[in-house]
Amino acid sequence: MVVKLWATRVTRGSAHGVTSRVLSDDEWQRNARLRRLEDRELFVTAWTLARTALAVELDVRPHALVVDRVCRLCGDPRHGKPWLPAAPHVDFNLSHTAGLVVVAVSTVGSVGVDVELADQDLSRLRHLILHPAEEAADDELLRYWVRKEAVLKASGVGLSGSMLDLDLARPPDEIQVLDLLLGPGAAGFVGALALRSHRAVALEWWLAPWHSAGSPGGEPPW
Ligand SMILES: CC(C)(COP(=O)(O)OP(=O)(O)OC[C@H]1O[C@@H](n2cnc3c(N)ncnc32)[C@H](O)[C@@H]1OP(=O)(O)O)[C@@H](O)C(=O)NCCC(=O)NCCS
Repeated sequence: MVVKLWATRVTRGSAHGVTSRVLSDDEWQRNARLRRLEDRELFVTAWTLARTALAVELDVRPHALVVDRVCRLCGDPRHGKPWLPAAPHVDFNLSHTAGLVVVAVSTVGSVGVDVELADQDLSRLRHLILHPAEEAADDELLRYWVRKEAVLKASGVGLSGSMLDLDLARPPDEIQVLDLLLGPGAAGFVGALALRSHRAVALEWWLAPWHSAGSPGGEPPW
């Protein structure tokens, strides 16, 4: 069993190389509401990559995919984990941070992914991250953060859920947590993936289609 990971670096201007007609009207409207150019570039790249990955998985055109954002936990239309009503057996999740986008696609179980810039000191948030049974040095806290955010994203709760209640040695609902082994193309980032399945899985990296020689986005991040 595999979970597919699609990733790309995002650098200033790189969205020019990826922008295509794949985003939905709703996504373009959300993009237009972002004030900073960097955020718009990240958003367009992320959703172009997500739609590309899902289109490959389902053998459809990227623009034809209907993505719902209604929260399946409480019905709120705004904060739900994006999902595909026409293909509920395919779960996906994306994470973007300044300079990097990762999209996970799973047919094995619900998936969550988180990537963050590695150069962050989370020591002041220690009391919000660690379960009472967990111990970690300050420089391990970011690793705990991405693992736990990935778990909370897999279930759709997101950061409205509590990291404190989550003991990574005993994750709920058969969730397994895997660290992302990012390569030299993504030095300076950490990431983790959470998957609701007891089956052994391999992570399979896929190349964004615009990663040809000399393309924007630079070196692939693995
Ligand atoms: C989901 C969440 C953790 C993402 O945080 P983040 O670190 O800023 O962002 P990331 O880049 O890692 O992930 C963002 C992506 O996660 C996805 N996402 C959004 N809501 C999500 C949710 N509830 N669960 C899982 N993934 C979610 C989206 O694709 C989003 O990207 P987009 O906004 O460009 O579409 C955060 O937005 C959150 O906690 N939202 C609130 C969820 C909530 O209120 N739940 C209540 C359940 S009743």
